[in-house]
Amino acid sequence: MFLLFLLFLPLVNAKYTPDWDSLDKRPLPSWYDDSKFGIFCHWGLYSVPAYRSEWMWWYWKGTQPDANVVNFVEKNYKPGTTYADFAKDFTAEYFDAKQFAETVKSSGARQEKKFYGNKNENSDILFSQQISYPQMIEIVTKYRPEVVWSDGEWDKPEEYWKAKEFLAWLYNSSPVKDQVVVNDRWGTGTMGKHGGFLTYSDHYDPGTLLERKWENCMTLDKHSWGNRRDMKASEVYTAYDIIEQLARTIACNGNLLLNVGPNMHGQIPAIFEDRLAEIGKFVNIASEAVYGTKPWIYQNDTSASNVWYTSRYQSGLSNHVKRNIQHPVFNMQLEKYTIVYAWILDTAHDTFELKSVKTTDRTTVTILGTDVVLTGFGTAESLTIPSSKIDWKKLPRRDVIVLKIENAGSRNRNPLKSSN
Ligand SMILES: *[C@@H]1O[C@H](CO)[C@@H](O)[C@H](O)[C@H]1NC(C)=O
Repeated sequence: MFLLFLLFLPLVNAKYTPDWDSLDKRPLPSWYDDSKFGIFCHWGLYSVPAYRSEWMWWYWKGTQPDANVVNFVEKNYKPGTTYADFAKDFTAEYFDAKQFAETVKSSGARQEKKFYGNKNENSDILFSQQISYPQMIEIVTKYRPEVVWSDGEWDKPEEYWKAKEFLAWLYNSSPVKDQVVVNDRWGTGTMGKHGGFLTYSDHYDPGTLLERKWENCMTLDKHSWGNRRDMKASEVYTAYDIIEQLARTIACNGNLLLNVGPNMHGQIPAIFEDRLAEIGKFVNIASEAVYGTKPWIYQNDTSASNVWYTSRYQSGLSNHVKRNIQHPVFNMQLEKYTIVYAWILDTAHDTFELKSVKTTDRTTVTILGTDVVLTGFGTAESLTIPSSKIDWKKLPRRDVIVLKIENAGSRNRNPLKSSN
């Protein structure tokens, strides 16, 4: 007993030690999984030339310059212009925090306060010790972000960035230690392995259930994260594209993080504003199929039409029942307790067949956004709905519908063991 005490005493104030064994054991604060959908921005000096992408400096001054970028600068800026010269034009004179926040909110995304790590443009070791590391501590202390999303770290090891020391401080004693979440970009080789939620790569979309919480980070402009003044409408994902990504992502235990690139004046371009509002209009109607859901025992039924599933348990269950049926990653299919949401993303059919859903005499189907409730399915191995039963006029859009399915037949499957 005495020995144990001695061993544990030094840990009282330091729950996490600066090594991955310890840091990776920290449970992800639940607000993150519940939120499902967030918005972020790439906004920096590259938003001034607003050409090619946020890597503009690299294409201009890097080891293999891009002739288009070099010509663009020659044509539009005085001879001898440096990247730092763009700073005087980064004026954000139309930035209106309230309007900015409202545009983001209109998308239905949950709020996130987050900051991006520094790109390593200075290879000197002093850069991390004297600049990036103290800046990370300062930013967290001053602005108290709930997400710290590090990036641009890959060509230096985690030791260079002092990443593990930073995370131990963040989790043990920072002002956001209880609610903060972090990504997985903390030095060469950490992506997809260590940290909080895993991003693997940009625009990650595995299409299968992953046990560990992950994130699909993507950008509305198909070619850039930063603002581009020559972006064309055809180069912007549609609201449908994003809704499909949202369904595929949350069905598989991911969160969707969608980027927009504001311009140097501090505005979110109108086409992005329009997309966010269109996405939000749909998400608000389908919100119960989004926020606070978990993956189901099946993720998709894509053989007949493009269907993805999310789920939740009925509310008001006793703690005893909850304890017995809770799984950290997915909800089981139990007739009395489970609500399944089927996102039908291919609606050009006369009937929709959901092969993974068993029906019983008690099964009901509500079409979210309408008053239609369908019953009388009887016992069957799959759920079939004729398209004529849907009140299309009431729906905000015709290319996606979400069904709320209650009292579907119990079914036993562990989606983390794909063989059954
Ligand atoms: C689900 O989607 C995956 C691809 O992501 C596919 O391989 C699999 O067959 C689909 N499952 C069903 C039941 O449609």
